[in-house]
Amino acid sequence: MIKELYPTNVFIKQLDISDEKLLKIENYLLSQHLKFKSDVRNDHKEYRDGNENIIFDAIVDGHCPEMDELVNKIKEGFISLAYSNIKDYDETNTERLYLDTVIDSCKINLMEKGYRLGCHTHFGDDAFACFYFNEIKDDEGGELMLYDPRWQKNYWFAGSKVEKIRPKRGLLVIAPSFLWHEVTQYHGDEQRLCLVVNAQVKNLAKDLEANKVDQSNYSL
Ligand SMILES: [Fe+2]
Repeated sequence: MIKELYPTNVFIKQLDISDEKLLKIENYLLSQHLKFKSDVRNDHKEYRDGNENIIFDAIVDGHCPEMDELVNKIKEGFISLAYSNIKDYDETNTERLYLDTVIDSCKINLMEKGYRLGCHTHFGDDAFACFYFNEIKDDEGGELMLYDPRWQKNYWFAGSKVEKIRPKRGLLVIAPSFLWHEVTQYHGDEQRLCLVVNAQVKNLAKDLEANKVDQSNYSL
């Protein structure tokens, strides 16, 4: 008998968001990016390596309701991915699950022609999400490469599972933080915009029972 151990689930979904809303979110992100770049209090030293990756407040009340909507959809994606990893978990009366996404940071990654992003993980969080705004063509590079987490494997024994994802407008990808990934060199003329969200997924069941969180938002 062969038993598959330690699979790595990745969430990949084209979100159903109108182009009108996507345009508003895109403009919001670009204006946040511009604001950051023009801030003279920051020396911008660490952003000179071709990897524009700035941290920003994704949800500022009233600024961009479409952004709130998108962030909520991304949060749902984190939860779906978490549940896919624990589908064999048996809930009991004393051990219940009520998962919620806690966002750690939101980043704007804006790539110009010639940029690439070296291989890295998102250590410290449970998972990372990438939401794309561009339709990247076959010959433009800028693909997200997700690497097999079994780095020590021998190819002929364990095979290879490199996953190449070409950004599409409205595409959401969520992967566990331990997954090494990179972005190949981008050759397109348009700026390549990606919203990156780092988050943890927590079990709120005990807090809900102990009335530590607002019960009206959840039902146990
Ligand atoms: Fe990343």
